[in-house]
Amino acid sequence: MQRRQLMQWGGALALSPWFFRPASAESAHAGHGATGEAAPMPDAAALGLASGLPLPDLKRLPLERKDGALQGCLTAASLNLPLLPGKPATEFWAYNDSVPGPAIELIEGETLSLRFDNRLPQLTTVHWHGLPIPADQDGNPHDPVLSGQGRDYRFSLPPGSAGTYWYHPHPHGHTAEQVYRGLAGVFVVRSRNDPLAHLPERWLVLSDLKLDDGGAIAANSEADKMDGREGQFVLVNGAWRPKLALGRGERQRWRVWNATSARVLKLALPAHEVWLVGTDGGLIEKPRRVEYLLLPPGARVELAVTGRFDAGKPAGLIALPYARGKMMGPEQGKALPLLDVEAGPTETTAALPSRLRTIAPLPKPTVRRLVAFSEDMSNPAAMFLINGKAFDMDRMDFSGKVGEVEEWEIDNRADMDHPFHLHGTQFQVTERHDGKGWRRESYLAWRDVVNVPPGQKVRLRFRQDMPGPRMFHCHILEHEDAGMMGTLDVRA
Ligand code: C2O
Ligand code: CU
Ligand code: CU
Repeated sequence: MQRRQLMQWGGALALSPWFFRPASAESAHAGHGATGEAAPMPDAAALGLASGLPLPDLKRLPLERKDGALQGCLTAASLNLPLLPGKPATEFWAYNDSVPGPAIELIEGETLSLRFDNRLPQLTTVHWHGLPIPADQDGNPHDPVLSGQGRDYRFSLPPGSAGTYWYHPHPHGHTAEQVYRGLAGVFVVRSRNDPLAHLPERWLVLSDLKLDDGGAIAANSEADKMDGREGQFVLVNGAWRPKLALGRGERQRWRVWNATSARVLKLALPAHEVWLVGTDGGLIEKPRRVEYLLLPPGARVELAVTGRFDAGKPAGLIALPYARGKMMGPEQGKALPLLDVEAGPTETTAALPSRLRTIAPLPKPTVRRLVAFSEDMSNPAAMFLINGKAFDMDRMDFSGKVGEVEEWEIDNRADMDHPFHLHGTQFQVTERHDGKGWRRESYLAWRDVVNVPPGQKVRLRFRQDMPGPRMFHCHILEHEDAGMMGTLDVRA
């Protein structure tokens, strides 16, 4: 056990039975396997997963225009993929036999009508992460689709919703497992007047893969349940360290999704010119030059990337070292290569407009609420809490009203980073408290995930435009499943 941890937990906790669980998992992690509870995670290199292949294109969901909607079918089922030489195929759970799931792309104002079939051995839901859609179509844990059953999801994309979203399961207690087995896909909403439509686009879905010795997807260890799962591999569009071609001087528009369970990715492209142009809910007002950016689990960004290939700097996309307060596993201490970028022929650089759109700041709130994250390591049944409580499907934590501006203060009183996420709408971060003082957010952006490091606070404003129960939770999926989630009941 780490020293820091022992100091934090103090002596009293040593008496709790829980004390012995992390200890045993750690020894297993270190390779002693004393309890047999979790096998040591085999080394990435030893497994022989292919890398360096061209970046795979995402499959698209076929849609047909009928009855005023775009209609399609989505099926969740198991899928065997041969991954490792000399090993049996790896069983994933996938949407339409594809990992990641098929990409869905619509234009603002369009309506999607989807037939969903659940051929998994357990119940599931499909949650449309970040989209402003009716609560009864949003795949809440309260609306499960049982194994062997199906349902239709139908919703329209309102004007102003152009942005970068995704879909994934959200069943009570099984979200982490269903996502790490492969169930997640991207959802892009376009605007008819998009100031960046002239740039070639690349879509990059970052996900975690953790395999056991036999090449099967490993179950969560005790460390994964505590810290959030991290596997041997971070994949991009289902491939390990694939390569992408970028011309010298070429400007591309990248959409990047953090679909990992728990990694806070400090993304950088050291050899290139990078401008942040969009967040979860679409474009920001003006491009911002960035050296790196923090992408917490669940969050997305849009970047304008120009190929510079500065000498002496790594040419690819990397995640810089980042410590997120993990209790059991090691922090990411070294730069992690995610994607290789290969120099293509020299091209002229397309213009980057200096204004992208206007975002009206949300007015003064009429409701203020506090959301405090805490951890109780002495109680294995309810370790991850919001306002002192673990999630209860039958409890409404807050009651709000359609159209009212709310301001929430997210206060992380725990020891790990916890990325806050809210369903059904986008929010604006207004202020952040770094433990010393409040600082105004320097630009307007629509987001649905914000990372809150321990000892820090974030204030954000939002409005819900549709009635119904809306989830809010930590987007480390193991924490969500363990109860770090609540429900806002929005009244008409
Ligand atoms: Cu992507 Cu409730 O989450
Ligand atoms: Cu969501
Ligand atoms: Cu968390």
